[in-house]
Amino acid sequence: MRHKLFIETYGCQMNLNDTQIVQSLMVESGYIIANSIDTADIVLLNTCSVRDNAEEKIRNRIETLYHIFKKRKTKTILGVIGCMAERLQEKLFASNQVVSLVVGPDEYRKLPELARLAFEGENGIAVDLSKIETYNDVIPLRIDGLTAWVSIMRGCNNFCSYCVVPYTRGRERSRPFESIVEEVKRLNNQGFKEVTLLGQNVNSYSKSATILNDATQEEITNNSNKLKSDFPELLETIAKAVPEMRIRFLTSHPKDFSFELIQTIAKYDNICNYIHLPIQSGSNRILDLMNRRYTVEKYLNLIEQIKQAIPDCVISTDIIAGFPSETIEEHNATLAVMRKIRYGSAFMFKYSPREGTKSFEIEDDVSEEEKIKRLNEIIDLQNKISFKENQKEIGKSFEILVENPSKKNKNEWFGRTKSAKLVVFDNSENKYKIGDLLNVKINKATSATLLGNII
Ligand code: SAH
Ligand code: SF4
Ligand code: F3S
Repeated sequence: MRHKLFIETYGCQMNLNDTQIVQSLMVESGYIIANSIDTADIVLLNTCSVRDNAEEKIRNRIETLYHIFKKRKTKTILGVIGCMAERLQEKLFASNQVVSLVVGPDEYRKLPELARLAFEGENGIAVDLSKIETYNDVIPLRIDGLTAWVSIMRGCNNFCSYCVVPYTRGRERSRPFESIVEEVKRLNNQGFKEVTLLGQNVNSYSKSATILNDATQEEITNNSNKLKSDFPELLETIAKAVPEMRIRFLTSHPKDFSFELIQTIAKYDNICNYIHLPIQSGSNRILDLMNRRYTVEKYLNLIEQIKQAIPDCVISTDIIAGFPSETIEEHNATLAVMRKIRYGSAFMFKYSPREGTKSFEIEDDVSEEEKIKRLNEIIDLQNKISFKENQKEIGKSFEILVENPSKKNKNEWFGRTKSAKLVVFDNSENKYKIGDLLNVKINKATSATLLGNII
């Protein structure tokens, strides 16, 4: 009998892409992909550790699944993979003995064999981090034929003081240049319309990966900073190879965002005019404590360069509220920077102390109540800015890529502009389908969406 696998994915796009890699590896070993957990006899949770509430969600999910699986007549295997597997390792077996597989992000090739043993009653764990694994030869199992993620690098060497990613994903390594270009060309031939190049720090993509043994955190970061990034060249090569595809990329670190990269984005029409460029804080003292390696002034200068070269570029950001020792003045400095830059959108978080990181050692002295208050101020301000910025789009025309019908109203469909803004349009006559490129004129806007007529 062939076993049926279902994977639930949490966390970032990297995890979504990893889920497709794991599915591909499992299908190759004879597994079938189930439509839901109801028909699956092996369920994997691909997990995130970035904030405690992300882990809390998984802890609750494991508890729920424990009760569901207990009632079944036959055994269901539950596995935890991804960042939480890497962070908590064998501790995950302890909870209520429901988890029988724990596999970290660099060990997915071992999953089919460990799963086989799990069906025979043996717990399996594989959590070694690798300096070379990029799953370069694995073709991710993609279902929809519209937009595809392509990992161009794995891991992170930056060690921002609050962040678990360098510990859960290991050292930064880039995939071979040619294999990325080939994969994008293949996606184009298969009819995909859009590709998003993924990495924790895509703009430090480098052809000449260095493998360091026993280096300190400081040495790893300094060494990475010395390498010239080949990301502009990669982007340009892809833009030329698939001129009819839209190209996106995530995430960029401000310290590595070069003028050459800005010019490359400006030069090619199919490289989307949307950049996610996390600032994290508007205070230089906090940025230094975060080990971000740029100042507010440098960041503003970068934004200025981007806006000059790509006038219609939409920029989004990540912000952390209530980092240890953050004063009211420093919080206000974050609000001031937001007013100055006017981001199109933002992902905003409360600081969450993560064991093992540098900032875990600094006292988490901003009270929960104060963190919530600061976060809400940041969210309120961003909503106002997003609303006003979207009002400016009324009357303008955009090309949108049709994505899907709305769940609430089947006559309303969504499409996305190159600048990543969501546009709702009427499709009650069913004239348009997923993957169409349409021109719309915007006639209304909220803080989250634009509404338009097809022209
Ligand atoms: N590599 C990306 C994304 C990292 S995780 C980058 O460097 O931007 C996504 C976001 O989560 C981060 O940008 C940061 O804003 C937030 N984040 C990470 N660790 C956090 C923590 N301990 N508490 C609160 N937010 C955190
Ligand atoms: Fe985390 Fe910083 Fe690396 Fe992003 S760049 S993954 S925030 S350590
Ligand atoms: Fe979360 Fe790991 Fe991504 S911690 S944000 S799933 S890299």
